[in-house]
Amino acid sequence: MHGDGFRFPDGFLWGAASSPTQVEGDTRNEWADFIARDGGHADEGCDAWADFERDFRLLETMGLTAFRIGLDWGRLQPAPGAPLDAAAAARYRQMLDWLSARGIAPFVTLFHFACPRWMAERGGWANPSAPAWFEDFARRVAALELPVVHWITVNEPCVYLTMSHLIGLFPPRRRFAFPAGWRALRHLVLGHRFARAALCAANPTAKVGITKHFKHFMPYRPWHPVDLLNAWLCNAIFSRYLLEAFLRESGSGVRSTSWTGCDFIGVNYYGRMRVKGFSDVSPVSGAPRELFGRLNVVCDDMWEQDPPRLARLLPDLTRRYGLPLYVTESGFATEDEELRVRLLKEHVASMREAVGEGADLRGYFYWALTDNFEWAEGYSKKFGLAGVDFNAHGKPRTLRPIAEAYARLSRNGYWIG
Ligand code: BGC
Repeated sequence: MHGDGFRFPDGFLWGAASSPTQVEGDTRNEWADFIARDGGHADEGCDAWADFERDFRLLETMGLTAFRIGLDWGRLQPAPGAPLDAAAAARYRQMLDWLSARGIAPFVTLFHFACPRWMAERGGWANPSAPAWFEDFARRVAALELPVVHWITVNEPCVYLTMSHLIGLFPPRRRFAFPAGWRALRHLVLGHRFARAALCAANPTAKVGITKHFKHFMPYRPWHPVDLLNAWLCNAIFSRYLLEAFLRESGSGVRSTSWTGCDFIGVNYYGRMRVKGFSDVSPVSGAPRELFGRLNVVCDDMWEQDPPRLARLLPDLTRRYGLPLYVTESGFATEDEELRVRLLKEHVASMREAVGEGADLRGYFYWALTDNFEWAEGYSKKFGLAGVDFNAHGKPRTLRPIAEAYARLSRNGYWIG
């Protein structure tokens, strides 16, 4: 027990996260033709499709109790409404059986930034049939009776739409495509509702939610009306309005305050962001390091870090929505291992504070289990508990020092050191 007697509740899940396109390789979805900024390609991947066990064994080594994986829709379903590919389904079953045999709880995502190619060719989520396609996919997945309780229908709908339809960094690389983006949003909400209904019809004990990226937006120039307005709009729309669209039960109006459209909220948390005019000022967008030094702000290789805000965000979500919370992603893109460990420690301290303030927090998933394909950024961003040597034969994995600290946390329920 920690000196002051605190430990996270028994049964609190300590996990790691991944997504199919980022680790599997042999890409079968719309990312197959995508070249990242650093020239990387999802296909080079971590070869986790060919050999999932070596990564799963890392979970065992660290004594983790949960793992977030995704099922790649494009790999599983070759055409709209078609039966699932039997070999792919069998492979995913093997993975999930492996986890459940070892008492590692799977959290399974159905849509993580990647449409099947046939769907992309038909306009992706903007197509009016998209919710029905997704429902059909979810129904077929549910019929597999996989050993899964927690399902995540859609990962970070707001990030996905911003990147794919607003700033054009993800397929289909559209910019300022407001009408299509709006349709896609409506269809994602409907798709979530339909998929949740299908999963719960097949298994009434299933718990179904979404994961939402929570970022606090700040004006870069606190006196500038455009920065102020943009930050306000981003906070209102990105963090609140869009979340609530998914939390509402189907048929309930925009003013409804019953949040029965999800069984839990997955919180993806990577810090905060300053906005200047209509763009952002962050390391991943090329803002110079010295700038953040001058502002006295800690950043990883992508964003400004803000661990203390998590301590306020989580109790606030519990007060507003009353749903169980899981931090389904939190991690740091850095090659500075001391920084990574320090940031994890600070995030854990914030979660501890949040629990003390009444947050109904039930688990934490570090992003990511291994280094992987970081979408538009390619392989240059290193988030993993395990590093991957992408240039060496067989792409060997090496657990980083953070893994040891995380293993202790998972075993003891409190931070040591
Ligand atoms: C996504 C992950 C991504 C991570 C780091 C989240 O937005 O769900 O796929 O790798 O952030 O950028």
